[in-house]
Amino acid sequence: MTQYKIALLPGDGIGEEIMAEAVKILQLVDSRHDDVSFDLTPAPFGASAWFSHGSCWPEETQTLCDGADAILKGTIGLSHAESKKIPSDQSAEKGLLAMRRRYDTYANFRPVFLPGSLGHFSPLKPEIIGDGIDILIIRELVGGLYFGEKEAGINAEGLRYAREQLDYDENQIRRIVEVAFQAAMKRRRKLHSVHKSNVLKSSVLWTEIVEEVAPEYPEVEVHHVLVDAAATYLCLKPTDFDVMVMENLFGDILSDQAGGILGSLGLMPSACVGPEKSYYEPSHGSAPDIAGQNIANPYSMIGSVAMMLEMSFGMTKEAENLWQAMQGVFAAGYSTPDLSRPGAGVTLVGTDEFGDRVAEALDGMPA
Ligand code: IPM
Ligand code: MG
Repeated sequence: MTQYKIALLPGDGIGEEIMAEAVKILQLVDSRHDDVSFDLTPAPFGASAWFSHGSCWPEETQTLCDGADAILKGTIGLSHAESKKIPSDQSAEKGLLAMRRRYDTYANFRPVFLPGSLGHFSPLKPEIIGDGIDILIIRELVGGLYFGEKEAGINAEGLRYAREQLDYDENQIRRIVEVAFQAAMKRRRKLHSVHKSNVLKSSVLWTEIVEEVAPEYPEVEVHHVLVDAAATYLCLKPTDFDVMVMENLFGDILSDQAGGILGSLGLMPSACVGPEKSYYEPSHGSAPDIAGQNIANPYSMIGSVAMMLEMSFGMTKEAENLWQAMQGVFAAGYSTPDLSRPGAGVTLVGTDEFGDRVAEALDGMPA
């Protein structure tokens, strides 16, 4: 029997209610597999933790995460007014960046997936969606502008200024590019490297490294695409993409755009993978405006569980079952109000009922 310790960090806003659905699924998976058991321990994290514990990533939570086999994180951030009460250098976002740095979670996987049958969720026309969208965005997560030196102050002319540094060395680039090629080999063997080498030296180096790694993967078709052009193609021809790899800030922006073409970030789970530890989280925010109303869709949260089962625990088959269970609930015509436009012909259910239906579907499949 293998026991996995999972730190649960529900966070703020809708985090608590979507985490409850993830826990439901984890307990079910546990009961379906005699050889695996999950030790689930919740801990405070995010803006709410700052108010209750004086830190967005309190020490007790760090200790729990240090000892965990994987971390499952909900969402962070309170309303603008509440967030403003927290000193900016101690914000929930800073806590998250500290976690990324501590566990060196350099590889961020954001699957952008919408089967043709769920095309009604997307703002794109059916002819653009075709048989469906299936992209894997791989974002470098611990380098670039996010982690470079920063300063702000008054310059010699008496003007307020800010400066931040964008650093990448070849090893940082090579390791994420390798991850992307390996992912492409498991998929449709097409890789788009996103860059801005007409302006940025860091992108010139990025592209050089991609070219150096490419001969190790002769079966992968490599395309270099400027980040601004990539934004356009994502809207016009999303089905052209398979795996996309990019640096941190480009990945932040394009992955949100990709959520937009699906219709919602509520349809985008993610994995943040480090050499020893990984954490899993929905790509969306804490949606304080709909928190506590039982209307947020737990798809991204449960999808993050599926990614954890596969990537941290090697439970590939069960992860596939879980994806299928979730798609099945949508395909049967159920959705939550946050995702669905009026008149889309879906039966609206609450967060908890959506989770129950996924659990029921999963339970009906051979483990
Ligand atoms: C994301 C988020 C974070 C980021 C924020 C919360 C710091 O937008 O995971 O995409 O910018 O990386
Ligand atoms: Mg983002």
